[in-house]
Amino acid sequence: MSTTVILGAQWGDEGKGKLVDVLAGNSDWVARFQGGNNAGHTVVIGNRTIKLHLLPSGITRKSCQLILGDGMVIDPWVLDQELKKWKDETEEEPDKDRLFISDRAHIILKFHRLVDGLDKKIGTTGRGIGPTYSDKINRIGLRFADLKHIINNSQWISEMCTLYNRVLNSLDIEEKITEIDLKNDLEWIHNRFGHAIKNTGVMLDNALKMKENVLLEGAQGCLLDIDQGTYPFVTSSVTSRANASHGVGIHPGHIDEVIGIVKAYTTRVGHGPFPCELKDDVGDYLTEKGHEFGTTTGRRRRCGWLDLVVLKHSHRVNGFTSLAITKLDVLGGLDTLKICVGYRANGAEYHNLPASITELENAEPIYIEMPGFPALNDEEWIKLARKANDENLGLSVLHPNAQSYLQQIENMLEIPLHSVGVGPDRDATIHLF
Ligand code: GDP
Ligand code: IMO
Ligand code: MG
Repeated sequence: MSTTVILGAQWGDEGKGKLVDVLAGNSDWVARFQGGNNAGHTVVIGNRTIKLHLLPSGITRKSCQLILGDGMVIDPWVLDQELKKWKDETEEEPDKDRLFISDRAHIILKFHRLVDGLDKKIGTTGRGIGPTYSDKINRIGLRFADLKHIINNSQWISEMCTLYNRVLNSLDIEEKITEIDLKNDLEWIHNRFGHAIKNTGVMLDNALKMKENVLLEGAQGCLLDIDQGTYPFVTSSVTSRANASHGVGIHPGHIDEVIGIVKAYTTRVGHGPFPCELKDDVGDYLTEKGHEFGTTTGRRRRCGWLDLVVLKHSHRVNGFTSLAITKLDVLGGLDTLKICVGYRANGAEYHNLPASITELENAEPIYIEMPGFPALNDEEWIKLARKANDENLGLSVLHPNAQSYLQQIENMLEIPLHSVGVGPDRDATIHLF
């Protein structure tokens, strides 16, 4: 029995989906604990690329049970679309027997999407995430558990419409929410998903008592955490370890392993400070070679060197038991690699992430430089990974400069490496555990 948490250690898109798909091969359950369809997790199996927004990445393993946990905000229409697409591709309907929606999770409604659509400051994904979490914190949100009770509660429907329309008016949004539309929406959600709404915390607790293996799949990353990220340029949930158990309704004592997913460089989508950002040819090289375009919105991801100040912060908050480095292959072909080990700002040196956005915006990275390693093509990387795994050769299959780069990260953070990703494919990972 084990419970393993998979977390993004940077600003998201580190490759969480790929590792969850791999580890789900030995898991009985995969559960999401926060966020919603702002997430975009990619799994590549041979010629097949699967992009997931709400469905846990363990969906690729038929023997895995799937949970959309208590701490999530769920857009039922997006979930329906994602399930339809899955059915088209596989003929399977997971919500009939192995996908369960927490009765405590909150529902994203049209109102929330409309309000989020106005954002210009943060560069949100526009999926209604922030407004739904706002309603949750304001204690006026709608949970799946309450659906069946409020469908026929005309007073609740009328009051919510008045409230929603007041907000829409104040924001100069022309669209309005009518009582009949809201009631129809609630009925549709209930009819479509009523059978899958469960007390999922109890289900997981029972599974753990039966000694089953559980994976908790994080979305976003530590630097997008509402408390520990680069506030206000963050998402609206706690993306970190502390919320992994809480967000699925089990206690923290169940957690055995916490794997931090670390891209071998850094990316971020949306606005906000990014000290190691490269606005030069190397930045363009990383974007193009790493296909750094958002899985959810298609936006170009900003790229930069690996930032150990960020990773030290992430480790302090999450206590990673190991690190999965991803996208090492993308660095192949660069003459020199840089790693940020501190910042200079306003005449001071920082080795811990400052909370102040102003200080972060002024931060000049202090880099160490290392020699690069040659580029390989996708097939060559996969071959190398297979050889490393089949013959138990670990990192020794890599070019010595690539080994030094990884050892530098391991030594400076004092966290053992779990695995190294060398391509998008399921097989393009060197396993070290
Ligand atoms: P997530 O949100 O953390 O699951 O990450 P995304 O799926 O949004 O973005 C990661 C992207 O990198 C996806 O397109 C993956 O297919 C791809 N990817 C994951 N690991 C590797 C790797 O080791 N090498 C390369 N080249 N691509 C990878
Ligand atoms: P995964 O799970 C990268 C970013 C948005 C924006 C900020 C707030 O694929 O790693 P939101 O819509 O959450 O209110 O947007 O957070 N963001 C992500 N960036 N990967 C993600 O998810 C993200 N989810 C949200 O770009 O800057
Ligand atoms: Mg992503």
